[in-house]
Amino acid sequence: MALFQSVPPPSAQSPLGSKVKVTNDEFTQLRDFIYQQSGIFIAEARKYLIENRLNNRIRELNLKNFGEYYYYLRFDPNRRNELTKLFEVITTNETSFWRNPPQLEVFQNKVLAAEIDKIRANRSKKLRIWSAGCSTGEEPYTLAIILHEVLKNEIGAWDIRITANDLSEAVLAAARRGMYTDYALRTTPKAIIDRYFVKDGANYQVAPKLKTLISFGPINLSDRLMLKRVERSNIIFCRNVIIYFDDEMKRQVIESFYDNLLPGGCMLIGHSESLHNISRAFKPEYHTGTIVYRKEA
Ligand SMILES: C[S@@+](CC[C@H](N)C(=O)[O-])C[C@H]1O[C@@H](n2cnc3c(N)ncnc32)[C@H](O)[C@@H]1O
Repeated sequence: MALFQSVPPPSAQSPLGSKVKVTNDEFTQLRDFIYQQSGIFIAEARKYLIENRLNNRIRELNLKNFGEYYYYLRFDPNRRNELTKLFEVITTNETSFWRNPPQLEVFQNKVLAAEIDKIRANRSKKLRIWSAGCSTGEEPYTLAIILHEVLKNEIGAWDIRITANDLSEAVLAAARRGMYTDYALRTTPKAIIDRYFVKDGANYQVAPKLKTLISFGPINLSDRLMLKRVERSNIIFCRNVIIYFDDEMKRQVIESFYDNLLPGGCMLIGHSESLHNISRAFKPEYHTGTIVYRKEA
């Protein structure tokens, strides 16, 4: 039996439009639960985030307060579905195509060019890239475009996979659809839009030849075992994701990325993120506009 079947309708406790407040104890309880489930750490100063973002869930579930919501998440038979919803609500999914152009230039002209030469020298054509925390897909599609730009007609002869993962099922569904507004493309060169997108009304649909390079799927970066199952990568992109973790979780996730990388492989993180006090395993390579973190061969 569902735990909260006897809870009266919302009008009895939280009149429509009135906001349910989170107490300090409820906040601590929920913050710890969210951290345990996802590695996302919500500091005290961002208590309002929990309050604002979860009010709708409380209303939709006909619950009275945040304490009841916590018990729903812990014990209700529907708790797995609610956890999926919670992940959708608490994650920040901001992204865009061609995000951080100086970093992408280093990626295209230095990192990828050298990796391709190395793979060719080994008489192979296999390349694996991991976009961890891919949000609605703009990052892995950007990488797929760059691969087309670099390999040109030769790309069909390569065995390429971009593994693109996220915690939120909702963003993954949008990523698989591959339909975007012009706002998502605001920093993308016009010539690239013309070559890789088809206009559909006011929107832009990504070309099928990009979709075939990418495999979208769910992941929880706080789950070490899940990360162990990801195929080993030549290059990892994890940009603007670890910023939401505390240092302990950052260390754990970065260590898993290190283990996942093939010898000589490298990792790129967001421009406001750093491995200072997190990991000394990588050899940093300093370029104008970005640092490339290299696993020694
Ligand atoms: C701000 S977006 C960054 C998207 C893209 N990497 C970029 O830089 O444009 C952060 C993404 O990380 C995802 N994320 C947060 N915690 C996660 C976790 N524990 N496991 C997997 N993905 C997570 C969020 O769902 C969100 O889509």
